[in-house]
Amino acid sequence: MPRLVKCIGIAVSMLAVLGAGACFLLPERFAVNVPLGSMLTGTGPGAPTNDQFATRIRVPDGFSVGLYATDIENARFLRFTSSGDLLVSQPRRGEILLLERDRNGDGLPDGRRTLLSGLDRSLGLDLDDGWLYIGEGSAVARVRFDAEAGTTVGDIERIVTGIPEGGNHWTRTLRIGPDGHIYLSVGSSCNVCEESDPRRAAMLRYRIDGSGEEIYAAGMRNSVGFDWRPGTNELYATDNGRDLLGDDFPPCELNRIERGGFYGWPYANGDNAPDPDFGAGNEAKVRSARAPDHGFRAHNAPLGMTFVRGDAAPGYRGAALVALHGSWNRSAKDGYKVVSLHWPSNGRAGPLEERDFLWGLEVDDDVIGRPVDVIEGPDGAFYISDDYANSVYRVAYGSAARATAAPGAATTTRDPLAAVQEAARPHLAATGSALYARHACATCHDPATARPGVVPVVLEDLATRYDVPRMMSFLAAPTPPMPAFDLTEDDRRALAVHLLR
Ligand code: HEC
Repeated sequence: MPRLVKCIGIAVSMLAVLGAGACFLLPERFAVNVPLGSMLTGTGPGAPTNDQFATRIRVPDGFSVGLYATDIENARFLRFTSSGDLLVSQPRRGEILLLERDRNGDGLPDGRRTLLSGLDRSLGLDLDDGWLYIGEGSAVARVRFDAEAGTTVGDIERIVTGIPEGGNHWTRTLRIGPDGHIYLSVGSSCNVCEESDPRRAAMLRYRIDGSGEEIYAAGMRNSVGFDWRPGTNELYATDNGRDLLGDDFPPCELNRIERGGFYGWPYANGDNAPDPDFGAGNEAKVRSARAPDHGFRAHNAPLGMTFVRGDAAPGYRGAALVALHGSWNRSAKDGYKVVSLHWPSNGRAGPLEERDFLWGLEVDDDVIGRPVDVIEGPDGAFYISDDYANSVYRVAYGSAARATAAPGAATTTRDPLAAVQEAARPHLAATGSALYARHACATCHDPATARPGVVPVVLEDLATRYDVPRMMSFLAAPTPPMPAFDLTEDDRRALAVHLLR
């Protein structure tokens, strides 16, 4: 499609000349609207200011957000070592940075140093049994790693070489799976095309020594983030939908990856919609594609993801946090945030709920950050890399209980009942109180009336951690072992008012 490529080329150079973030003269299908800096010059504006933390960067009620580290050029993927140091990959520099663990408890790393340099587009990283594994552009590298000292030992060895490279999507995300194998995601070479090497647009798997290459799953255009769901060990991966089909199609995806599974690209998009360029004549492939478990808005570009394993943040255990890098070819910018995905409780089927987790990095097309990866720290806080602001954010539940990252830390506070009109509150509270009695909530929550043998979970300080919408969504999908009740939306609203008043 040479004409199309030219179109984008023109748009990009126009942006460079005009220095503005809008799309000119081009139909929506060819929209290029990228924050200046990230794509054109490779550098961003630096870390958000204290004022921006106070006025526009938001986290859910009860959380606080601040900077953990700044001035990390092109900060991409994150991994904590077993002793609490944070590794950050900087693929453009071919380096891995080590942020020294926070021994003095000020909520900031105690120091930093380059752990490895001279690597080839080092993106994915994981630790296993005394080794640090790294996904490079065309190889898997590993080196002995002394977690206590925070140093590598001996030389790097390349245990896999010859991974196809070239074209688009050069990042290689690497994780060690619960089965002790290396999983490596290799994106497609193009926006949409039929690949000549079946290892492109695929999830590859190797034994831990790099032998036994296998195409674990296929049809994945560019799955940069993946993780295993705690409890079930199911593998989930984000995937970026193709470009140049307009502002709102196709969705980006969260897929449950099964061995041998085919995920559609380049023949099908989203829920098995035939691709306008490659669907015709490939109907069987379109039908055989596994539909996504969740669709993100088109062009949101989900990258890193992690399942929440700890319970420092009530209501989040078992949810997935996903970093949305944000659109580059949508006429109005979209994405540029971290969202949480919540599964229906008790293994029920049903759509996943997507909620904002860190947002305000894009406001009215003005961008100050682009999240790349998100992980859970040993302290129960969440760490988010940003390759536009060249920073790592720390989002913690509560503020006083834990040290927050100092510069610009901000906690959001609001009236927890704001969503309900004053006049309606007394009646709703009375209804909620009756529902609380009818469903015998006290049998698990009230020490005075708890059933024998049940250790009550005392409900306290709810108003500091929930508001009405959050309480309603908690009650719709409570964290196990709390059972899910058959409650209407009105019931949930009434219970929320009763509990938060
Ligand atoms: C069989 C026991 C049981 C019953 C009955 C029960 N719950 Fe729970 N509930 C729990 C447990 C256990 C938790 C803690 C879940 C977790 O690990 O986060 C919980 C958590 C909660 C929380 C969150 C507490 C917090 O600090 O964030 C709320 C709110 C709540 N329950 C409300 C209710 C309401 C309202 C009812 C009645 C409709 C109810 N529960 C009935 C066991 C129960």
